[in-house]
Amino acid sequence: MQCSWKAVILLALASIAIQYTAIRTLTSKPFQLCPVPSPQNCGLLGGPETESPIEGRAGCDDYPYFSFNASRKTHIMVLATTRSGSSFVGQLLNQHADIFYLFEPLYHVQTTLIPRLSHSRNAADRRVMLGASRDLLRSLYGCDLYFLESYIKPAPANHTTDKLFRRGASRALCSLPVCDAFGPTDANVEEGDCVKKCASLNMTLAADACREKRHVAIKVVRVPEIGDLRALVEDPRVNIKVIQLVRDPRGILSSRIETFRDTYRLWRIWRATGRRPYNLDLSQLTVVCEDFLGSVSTGLSHPHWLKGKYMLVRYEDLSRNPLLKTMEIYDFLGLPMDKSVEEWIQTNTRGSTELSAKHKYGTVRDSAANAESWRLKLSYDMVEYTQATCHKVLHQLGYKAVKSAEELKNMSLSLVQEKTFVPFS
Ligand SMILES: *[C@@H]1O[C@H](CO)[C@@H](O)[C@H](O)[C@H]1NC(C)=O
Ligand SMILES: *[C@@H]1O[C@H](CO)[C@@H](O)[C@H](O)[C@H]1NC(C)=O
Ligand SMILES: *[C@@H]1O[C@H](CO)[C@@H](O)[C@H](O)[C@H]1NC(C)=O
Ligand SMILES: *[C@@H]1O[C@H](CO)[C@@H](O)[C@H](O)[C@H]1NC(C)=O
Repeated sequence: MQCSWKAVILLALASIAIQYTAIRTLTSKPFQLCPVPSPQNCGLLGGPETESPIEGRAGCDDYPYFSFNASRKTHIMVLATTRSGSSFVGQLLNQHADIFYLFEPLYHVQTTLIPRLSHSRNAADRRVMLGASRDLLRSLYGCDLYFLESYIKPAPANHTTDKLFRRGASRALCSLPVCDAFGPTDANVEEGDCVKKCASLNMTLAADACREKRHVAIKVVRVPEIGDLRALVEDPRVNIKVIQLVRDPRGILSSRIETFRDTYRLWRIWRATGRRPYNLDLSQLTVVCEDFLGSVSTGLSHPHWLKGKYMLVRYEDLSRNPLLKTMEIYDFLGLPMDKSVEEWIQTNTRGSTELSAKHKYGTVRDSAANAESWRLKLSYDMVEYTQATCHKVLHQLGYKAVKSAEELKNMSLSLVQEKTFVPFS
């Protein structure tokens, strides 16, 4: 009995000594990779998903409190849906010198896990996709780009690939040291030029570039609603700020009909013939409204876990007043807006509509005029149908319903009501 009692004390002493040695060793190394908000959180860490193939990361989760630093990274997420202006918001972040930006990395998760259905509503598929997405996002925010490789096809060899989705949309991946085709003076490399001229993407270099930047921003259009991200938002290893971008569902529908010509073919038939095809996939519209409603209801109910981490932005407000809105976004992020962002806004928001036709996924070029141009493109019965399906979310977001075709086409009457969504802080 006595002996085991002594053994316990001895063991305790030994473990203190070991911990102390470990601490001494670890504090001499930099720990920017695994920021954690406070020492209290260290008990929550660990677990199987914390392993990382990137060197220097392994020790982090065991002694997370050493990484606490006032200058920790901000992990920015642009949460949106297709054709809601997310590329534009992405660019507002991509242009910033301190931000490492990735365009829709979840594309690879979706094409690997659910190759056939592009917008599966199957609950099981959705769960698998969400779980994988959260893990991937968490890794990417830690600049662990190797994690993404398991979803890229064909599998990258020697950590090199030329299949990263929309690589050219990320400034850091088109400039030194990741790509040496352009010099530091080539300020705005076109996406296509980047893909053409840069050699295959070296993921090691890309991860290094990510670590060099103060912040990481990721554009996401494959997560249905903010509630699906709760586990990630609450994860002490990430310091996330979500910018949720919404747009009038009538505008989204119109834009998708123009852009995704195959998928939305039946909607075009409806528009052309004035008769709704019996086999029209209505979920292409209802899903947008349900997801917005879910997200916005959660966001605006100010749950404690979103405190200081959620901002709702309407695409229409951004189009009308890009500079002001961008300043508000940077204010929310707690980052100074830099000159290059401002310049980018100047050159990309007053141009002609010719440019917008050039890029299928292009950003808002002729922004203010674009915001309500859907009114001239959709037929009144399609609008009426959308209003009936989405009336709750239209009301919540401040988009006015029209009662007649005349009202719809009368552009001197805006359908966007003044509404401010103050970030919950
Ligand atoms: C903490 O931030 C300071 C600058 O604010 C920096 O010099 C230092 O290297 C950082 N330490 C760690 C461990 O990241
Ligand atoms: C990977 O690198 C090794 C060693 O440099 C080389 O022998 C091999 O051919 C490379 N594989 C591919 C697919 O490039
Ligand atoms: C990628 O970059 C790293 C770091 O510079 C380098 O060691 C590695 O050889 C490069 N990989 C390839 C395949 O060129
Ligand atoms: C358009 O709306 C405005 C403002 O409500 C109204 O004064 C005007 O008469 C309308 N024009 C037409 C052609 O209905």
